[in-house]
Amino acid sequence: TSPFAPRHLLSIGDLTPAELTTLVRNAHNHKTVIKQTGEVPHTLRGALAAKTVAMSFSKRSTRTRISTEGAIAIMGGHPMFLGKDDIQLGVNESLYDTAIVLSSMTSAIVARVGPHSDVADLAKHSNVPVINALSDLYHPLQIIADFLTIAEVSPSTFSSSLGLEGLKIAWIGDANNVLFDLAIGAAKLGVDIAIATPQGYSIPQEMRGVIGAAASSSPKPGRLIETNIPEEAVKDADILVTDTWVSMGQEQETAKRRAAFKGFQITSELAKRGGAKENWSFMHCLPRHPEEVSDDVFYGPRSVVFREAENRLWAAISALEAFVVNKGKI
Ligand code: CP
Ligand code: NVA
Repeated sequence: TSPFAPRHLLSIGDLTPAELTTLVRNAHNHKTVIKQTGEVPHTLRGALAAKTVAMSFSKRSTRTRISTEGAIAIMGGHPMFLGKDDIQLGVNESLYDTAIVLSSMTSAIVARVGPHSDVADLAKHSNVPVINALSDLYHPLQIIADFLTIAEVSPSTFSSSLGLEGLKIAWIGDANNVLFDLAIGAAKLGVDIAIATPQGYSIPQEMRGVIGAAASSSPKPGRLIETNIPEEAVKDADILVTDTWVSMGQEQETAKRRAAFKGFQITSELAKRGGAKENWSFMHCLPRHPEEVSDDVFYGPRSVVFREAENRLWAAISALEAFVVNKGKI
């Protein structure tokens, strides 16, 4: 990479603990200021014209699309949503050619892809910042919003540190893209994370190394605990969290996965049996299916899922500001 290569956001692992903290704090500040005063930072409005941002999405999306497309518009930029049937990519044109063409005409690329190598390749050949809007390995925009949500429901200070050290997250379910970035962020911010997966669905060994590296980047790393027993993960947890058992692209495994994950549904009984902290909160990146969490938890008073979804907007503003407006200086 040349010294002028743009800085990309492909995973939470690309951020130092201090940078992740700053992105979450800035998201909080934008949320507060915009809600109180209506004042928005028009930082994607250039002197002569709006900055354009290409949004290349090869998979469906509600939250990521609405939050990033909305954030770009709010900031005075112009989002161009490019669904998989809208552009030549993948059918008539290579990723390499697409990266060069998109980055020659836009200020940034936000990309949702299947294999993580697709967004990594896009970044490699792009002259403008690339932001990962979900790959099969990572979902950084989600995790910035998640730590904003966790800080909001915890006695956090939004000062130089978020003050989340010592909290415990329990992840019950599939070891997937959302979990990987959450575990990396937790390691960086000093938050313990206990992961309960069925046998055969645990974190791949290589990813364990990536999470370990994230822990070494932190002065006070959070611990990673792995188990096959949901109750064990739930013990003393402040946050209970899960995601779908069948991620996009795994649809043909639906029956097999539903059978394997039996007993891993988050319910009030599980929280009680496992001994979660008294004021535990429930999180889910959405979209949600009933098998991974019972209705009483999902729609109950401990659930912060819709706050978490809204926080995607504030996280998107913070990330676009850092990577597109400020060129990765955080
Ligand atoms: N949580 C999330 O990324 O949702 P979408 O797939 O709807 O964007
Ligand atoms: N793990 C899910 C997250 C969707 C936001 C998926 O990849 O489909």
